[in-house]
Amino acid sequence: MALLDQRVVLVTGGSTGIGRATARILASEGATVIIADVQDDEGANTVAAITQSGGHAEYLHVDVGDFAAVEAAVATLVERHGALHGAFNNAGIEGPTAKILDLAPAEWERVIRVNLTGVYHCMKAEIAQMVKQDGGGSIVSTASAAGLIGIPGAAGYNSAKHGVVGLTKTVALEYAARNIRVNAVCPGFIETPMLGRVTEASAKIREQMIGATPMKRVAQPEEIGDAVAWLLSARSSYVTGVALPVDGGWVAQ
Ligand SMILES: NC(=O)c1ccc[n+]([C@@H]2O[C@H](COP(=O)([O-])OP(=O)(O)OC[C@H]3O[C@@H](n4cnc5c(N)ncnc54)[C@H](O)[C@@H]3O)[C@@H](O)[C@H]2O)c1
Repeated sequence: MALLDQRVVLVTGGSTGIGRATARILASEGATVIIADVQDDEGANTVAAITQSGGHAEYLHVDVGDFAAVEAAVATLVERHGALHGAFNNAGIEGPTAKILDLAPAEWERVIRVNLTGVYHCMKAEIAQMVKQDGGGSIVSTASAAGLIGIPGAAGYNSAKHGVVGLTKTVALEYAARNIRVNAVCPGFIETPMLGRVTEASAKIREQMIGATPMKRVAQPEEIGDAVAWLLSARSSYVTGVALPVDGGWVAQ
């Protein structure tokens, strides 16, 4: 039996990057995967890749910053598949690279809306459904190594990711007795379109990232996906409230 057989799992930000790689791994482990994203063409590509490999996936256009849209997505997937067993709240944006004096209030709000409020919206809708089902559940959100340590030049992003860690611990405690497990992964530098955008200004930025990482390389998105698959599965049945670094040793320094 595969790790996630007969599980219905929502993956936000599953059109590209970490979300896409994770959706593919979850489907290969037997899950029915519902991808929620705003990049419709890339979402369709991810669904096609999963279908071609014999897995089951569907795409829904959802802006995680819009609570009504998130609630509607959960209602739709429950209508189609009967239940929600797991979720990977992964949608995110990088925001600008700027010290606080150059960080405009509108930019701060944009990154908090997607990266923190979006995770709150998802957890709220997912937990409401899991409580209704009364069969437990597993939720994993994408924080970041930037959710565990300060990094100059990204106050909005880092604050949002620290917020995801705080939200994860708090909600884990609130629903532990209902067997709804709530954890976060904290990636270091991962080869995705986001990393490409952050490093495109200069090759030096990428070299600095690799230099700062004890394992001296960036990771492939599947290396996050494998950790997420484990956290979503019964193999991690006593793990809740954890913010797991998957970062080549970066935050251990
Ligand atoms: N790449 C890294 O090095 C790295 C490191 C630490 C954390 N992360 C986090 O990992 C997650 C995935 O990032 P990635 O690197 O795969 O980047 P990515 O840009 O490839 O993927 C992000 C996905 O989120 C989607 N998205 C953005 N805004 C959305 C919204 N409002 N509603 C729904 N979907 C939305 C995008 O369309 C995209 O498909 C993010 O939360 C990011 O902050 C990435």
